[in-house]
Amino acid sequence: MTETTRRTMVLGAGSAGLAAVLTACASYGSPTTEASAEPPEDEASSDAPKKKTEKKAAKALADTADIPKGGGKVFESQKIVVTQPTDGDFKAFTAVCTHQGCTVASVSNGTINCPCHGSKFKIEDGSVADGPASEPLAEKKITVDGDKIRLA
Ligand code: FES
Repeated sequence: MTETTRRTMVLGAGSAGLAAVLTACASYGSPTTEASAEPPEDEASSDAPKKKTEKKAAKALADTADIPKGGGKVFESQKIVVTQPTDGDFKAFTAVCTHQGCTVASVSNGTINCPCHGSKFKIEDGSVADGPASEPLAEKKITVDGDKIRLA
């Protein structure tokens, strides 16, 4: 008898507590709050596809058509130089000169050229073609995906 009474009391307290929680939840989701929160969400979702596109575009370092055959191009902001020693064979190296850290400025006559003290590096493998630099430009891994060149 005593046990049954206790259960009833516990259940009773539980139900009352549950009712209080439900009431509390219902009052949080007032129509005014939801209505004012909706417009920014819609704007954010319409921007989402644009952001994805921008992110993809930013990842591609260059188009294959941007890199001259038998030459290359310096991407100063990324500190990368991409070369195409032979048709369809793309290579990438750091654009930071191993002599004293200048950024290489041009690619011509088969070499990547540093403007600071005249070091030249071969477009095939970044090795030194002319000093004063004595170390090669470190190769960077890239992937060619269709007509897009991306850092790997
Ligand atoms: S820093 Fe490039 S040649 Fe000196």
